Amino acid sequence: MAGRLQDKVAIITGGGSGMGRDTVLHFLDEGARVMVADINEDNGRQTVALAKAQGHADRAAFVRCDVAEEAEVAAMVAAAERTFGTLDITYLNAGVGGAFGPIGETTVEGWDYTFAVLVRSVFLGMKHASQAMRRHDRGGAILSTASVAGIVGGAGSHAYSAAKAAVISLTQNVATELAPHRIRVNAIAPGVISTPLLHRGKPEKFEAQFRRQPWPERGEGRHIATVAAFLCSDDARFVTGETVKVDGGLLAQGIAIWGAGAENPLLRAPGVNYGSTGRR
Ligand SMILES: NC(=O)c1ccc[n+]([C@@H]2O[C@H](COP(=O)([O-])OP(=O)(O)OC[C@H]3O[C@@H](n4cnc5c(N)ncnc54)[C@H](O)[C@@H]3O)[C@@H](O)[C@H]2O)c1
Repeated sequence: MAGRLQDKVAIITGGGSGMGRDTVLHFLDEGARVMVADINEDNGRQTVALAKAQGHADRAAFVRCDVAEEAEVAAMVAAAERTFGTLDITYLNAGVGGAFGPIGETTVEGWDYTFAVLVRSVFLGMKHASQAMRRHDRGGAILSTASVAGIVGGAGSHAYSAAKAAVISLTQNVATELAPHRIRVNAIAPGVISTPLLHRGKPEKFEAQFRRQPWPERGEGRHIATVAAFLCSDDARFVTGETVKVDGGLLAQGIAIWGAGAENPLLRAPGVNYGSTGRR
C-alpha cells in the first residue's frame, strides 16, 4: 500500500537525534526519500544506518550541515536535489537549548548563538527550500519545530522562548507569501518530549517534567513524527500558516488556578454556582 508520503523527497534537519531521527524513520516508512541533515556527523550517519537496517537502503542519505550557515543550507538543498532529483518537503527541526540564566547575565554571544541556530536557520531553510521548490514548480511543504515555549512564558529560557516565538511569526508570514506557489508553511509546537536535548541521557531525572501534561503518556519523538507526516502530506493541503501544538494538553490545561485535572475541586462533583444572585 502506498504511504502517506509516497515518493516525496524530504530534507529533515536535526535528523541525527531525538524527534528528528524518529521523523526520518517515520517518513521513510510512509514512502518518502529522506536527506538527513545534521551538524553531528556520527549521529546523522547512525540515523541512515538505522534506516538501512529497517530496509530503506536507497531512500536515505546524510549531509553534514550547520543550519545557521547560509552556504551550508544552500549546499544541503542542492545535495537533496542531486541525490533524489527534486524537493517536496523540508522539515527545519534542528535545535539546541541555547543561552539560559538571568537576563542581567545573559551574554550577547549566547543570545546570538541561540537566535542563529533557532531562527536564522529557519529563515535560511525557508529561503533556500522555497527557491528549489519554486524551480521544480510542483508545490511543497515547509515545516519547522517551534515550541510551547514560544507561545507562553515559563517553558524555556528568555532567549529560547523568544526565538521559538519568532519561528511561529515567520511561519505565518512566509505562509501567506508562498501560498500562491502551492508551498505550505507550518510549524509544530512540541510540549515536553523525551529526547536527548531534554534529558541528556538520563530520562529518569525528568519524570516530574514528563508528567506535567494531562495526557497520561510521556511525550516521545514518534508523537511529533506522525503529526509532521500529516502536515507534510497532501491530507493537509488546506493547512498553511498554522502552528500545531503537540503537547498532550499541556497548554490546554492553562494556568490551573484551582489545580490541574482531578485536583481541581470544580471537577469533583456536579453543581451550579449562582454567584451573588441570592440563590443557593
Ligand atoms: N525535547 C523537547 O521537549 C522539545 C520541546 C519543544 C521544542 N523542541 C525542539 O525540537 C527540535 C528538536 O530537538 P530534540 O528535542 O529532538 O533535540 P535533540 O538534541 O535530540 O536533536 C537536535 C538535533 O539538532 C542538531 N543540531 C543542533 N544544532 C545544529 C546546527 N547548528 N546545525 C545542524 N544541526 C544541529 C543536533 O546535532 C541534534 O542532532 C529543536 O528545535 C528543539 O528546540 C524540543
